[in-house]
Amino acid sequence: MYKFKDSTPDWLYHPANLDDNLLPQIQKELKKFFLSNKNQSLVPMTSTYIEYYDIKTCPTLIQQLEQWDLYTKFWGLAFISVDSTKIFPPHVDADVDCALNIPVFKCEGTYTVWYDGVITDNELPDYAKGIKIAEISRIADPKTVKEIGRCDSSVPHWLNINVLHRPETTHDRFRVAASLRFNPEPLNEKRELWPHLIKQ
Ligand SMILES: [Fe+2]
Repeated sequence: MYKFKDSTPDWLYHPANLDDNLLPQIQKELKKFFLSNKNQSLVPMTSTYIEYYDIKTCPTLIQQLEQWDLYTKFWGLAFISVDSTKIFPPHVDADVDCALNIPVFKCEGTYTVWYDGVITDNELPDYAKGIKIAEISRIADPKTVKEIGRCDSSVPHWLNINVLHRPETTHDRFRVAASLRFNPEPLNEKRELWPHLIKQ
């Protein structure tokens, strides 16, 4: 499996141990957050990545992160949207190893898919770069990629985002997932995820 960095974990994904009683409220907060911020961003309704750093309007999400001892390590909240007519190419998120993804809009029938393949020194297409930081992502040569795993985006998951991956959709409706990033990341010295974050 191609690894962009030596520190890249060996695992691809784990179901997230989100509190089932909190999840509906967390999703409600994230929907509101997305809808109230999208007009101010540069981002059209397309396949793109945008990022925010203040989640004070999402108190239930904060409560979940505190239960996990992760709120002090919270670094950023991204929204990853997919329009079926604009392919989001396989890429690595260059300086991050893992993310917590939570479904927000129309994630049923959509997946995160991982690939082995050859990376090129190319950036994401312009339409996918919602903000400046997305410029550091690196994409794969589509002719070389081979699927090595996938998980259902309608279920909250921890994802390895330093192995080539992309969001895939099987429907033509606009889809949005939230993706949380942490620094330091909740990984041990073997780059395994903290066990209490994984749903058994
Ligand atoms: Fe990514």
